[in-house]
Amino acid sequence: MTVPQQTRPATRGSTTDGFVHLRRAGVSLLLGVVDEGLPVVLHWGGDLGPLTDPDLADLGTALRRPVRRGAPDGRPVGVVPEHTHAWFGLPGLTGHRAGRAWSPRFVRTDLRVVDEVETAPACAVVTARDEHAALELEITLELDQAGLVRLRAGVRNLAPADPYQLDGLLVSLPVPSQAAEVLDLTGRWCRERAPQRRPLTVGTWLREGRRGRSGLDATLLLVAGTSGFGFRSGEVWGLHVGWSGNHRSFVERTPEGETVLGGGELLLPGELVLAPGERYRTPWVYGSYGRGLDEMSGRFHAHLRRMASPRRRPRPVVVNTWEAVYFDHRLDRLMALADAAARIGAERFVLDDGWFRGRRDDRAGLGDWYVDPDVWPTGLHPLVDHVRGLGLEFGLWVEPEMVNPDSELARNHPDWLLSTGGRLPRPSRWQQVLDLTNPEAYAYVLGRLDALLNEYDIAYLKWDHNRDLLDAGLPPSGRPGVHAQTQAVYRLLDTVRERHPRLEIESCASGGGRVDLGILARTDRIWGSDCLDPLERQSIQRWTQLLVPPELVGSHVGKPRSHHTGRTHSLAFRAGTALFGSFGVEWDISTISPEEERELAGWVALYRRYRDLIHGGTVVRADHPDPALWVHGVVAPDRRAALIALVGVETGTVSSPGAVRLPGLDPGYRYTVRPIAPEPATTTLAAAPAWFTDGGVHLSGRVLGTAGLQAPPLRPGELVLLHLAADGTGR
Ligand code: GLA
Repeated sequence: MTVPQQTRPATRGSTTDGFVHLRRAGVSLLLGVVDEGLPVVLHWGGDLGPLTDPDLADLGTALRRPVRRGAPDGRPVGVVPEHTHAWFGLPGLTGHRAGRAWSPRFVRTDLRVVDEVETAPACAVVTARDEHAALELEITLELDQAGLVRLRAGVRNLAPADPYQLDGLLVSLPVPSQAAEVLDLTGRWCRERAPQRRPLTVGTWLREGRRGRSGLDATLLLVAGTSGFGFRSGEVWGLHVGWSGNHRSFVERTPEGETVLGGGELLLPGELVLAPGERYRTPWVYGSYGRGLDEMSGRFHAHLRRMASPRRRPRPVVVNTWEAVYFDHRLDRLMALADAAARIGAERFVLDDGWFRGRRDDRAGLGDWYVDPDVWPTGLHPLVDHVRGLGLEFGLWVEPEMVNPDSELARNHPDWLLSTGGRLPRPSRWQQVLDLTNPEAYAYVLGRLDALLNEYDIAYLKWDHNRDLLDAGLPPSGRPGVHAQTQAVYRLLDTVRERHPRLEIESCASGGGRVDLGILARTDRIWGSDCLDPLERQSIQRWTQLLVPPELVGSHVGKPRSHHTGRTHSLAFRAGTALFGSFGVEWDISTISPEEERELAGWVALYRRYRDLIHGGTVVRADHPDPALWVHGVVAPDRRAALIALVGVETGTVSSPGAVRLPGLDPGYRYTVRPIAPEPATTTLAAAPAWFTDGGVHLSGRVLGTAGLQAPPLRPGELVLLHLAADGTGR
């Protein structure tokens, strides 16, 4: 066994039969390196403080559990749970060689720890073998500078001749018995990210994604927490699987009293067979601990912001053509829309679906990625030139993984579609899925994207994926292909980005159907939902932002009457909702009144003014007891400024929601709190509290967070924006 490098003796213990103690940003991850097996996580949660070797030895004694009575005695559950050690929950590694090698027992062969500086992730890499099963396992555990845990495992087939049938590889993290409730998310088209809660009891709560994409119903995060946990209260442990194909997330409590959160990829029957020497690696699985959901989310936000930082620039105001014109692509109409976009202060114009050959509605054309000469006789040049001439960037919609059977592509290459059983999968939105593992199909799509990006000045692709995968077999064998397809999509995105380094890409999938840290490692924004109704969007954004920071969540101002719900909302509510995201407009603004245009321009200016704060601040959500009122916003990292929204989301059972406590402020600062609205509009309320009509108050963060402010009674669909500036701050 390799002795770990002794890099931070004050915070880490020794090696054999010892401990590895990683600490970052208020989180401790303590590994027990006991006997010769896989390391076990002895503690994942709040910071244990610096621990000396004697401290660690005593802690090990304190945490050692008594011998089990009435059940085989085992080891504490490892990061890859092993049945052989009397773990009766879901095993980490499942697979076999024609019925043999199905219950491995791994023996550690190496442990390396890198824990050099506080400002970089700490990392432990373990390798282990089962010589009898001829398998090697590698586990990587990281704790990043924001306190986010990231782990994955890999398994290699060591047999000289025998293939190994891999059925699954899951990793898990233990959570303490204090966790008593579970929160996860589900959803459907136009209603993504619906939360669901239940008690955490003995048994397994397993969420599976079998749709070949993260899914409109994605778990997104599986959270276990102390009883009654909220955004600002309780302790929570959240897990996310960073993968855009089939996936599993679970929380499991055994009758022996152990509880784990786990996840990984879901493999279809026979999908992966490891040839001799071959290795499979799980996607990254992420764990975030927090005192309240806000802190848990903050660690994910910090991670995503760090990943995005090399490419990061202010998120431009978008005007998207979809709900403005749908398939009615006429140059004069689109140029008028671009003119209006420039007038309101937009910075990017995105031509959505409908520009390519045969695409007059959603039944034909997908796959034929050539500009339609019937609609665009001189190509997209006149529109692109016009948009660029107005000083706006140009963006284009594509759906590279999809094919309509009514397309030249499908007619010429029927063998390029994913299928199994000698039949085509059931259609969805009249489309099928292109087999990107087929080198010719891949080269065709890459070639078309490349050609478009080379011919036109395109700053942005809205990359869509509008169906669940069904019967996704790889022709001609028909063997399951979701794993390989997902890898091919990642490769395609990576290659496009390498060839066009300044290009930004949005991940859209029937709205928010592909939101995960795998896709977000190679895209710059996600589309939150096809539903633009702001009341729905309040909820969709609140829960999407459990994982994703506001600047990465596309959020548009739609027309007054929502296409999807038929409800009508004021511009103030539509725009005040879109403000807390990557702001855009999706409405035919070439036909709105001058008053509406002025008001919308005011909102764009407000967004641009506070964009850095919204996109760099800490997301806060208050646990206000009245469900009729939501309080959310952002607080600057130095806590000297904040933007908070008070939002009426339903009618209350009491006539006044009472005082709201403003979350996340510095108790020691004094803040000027004032209601803001875009020029020239003001917010008028039926019954306003004195601080509102007086134009604000001046109070300490302690008072605002403890006593709070009387909230105005708001009707559903009304909101008030508050700006807070600490003394000595200009804005
Ligand atoms: C999906 C997207 C929409 C729009 C349409 C175009 O539904 O989510 O925003 O781009 O496709 O067909």
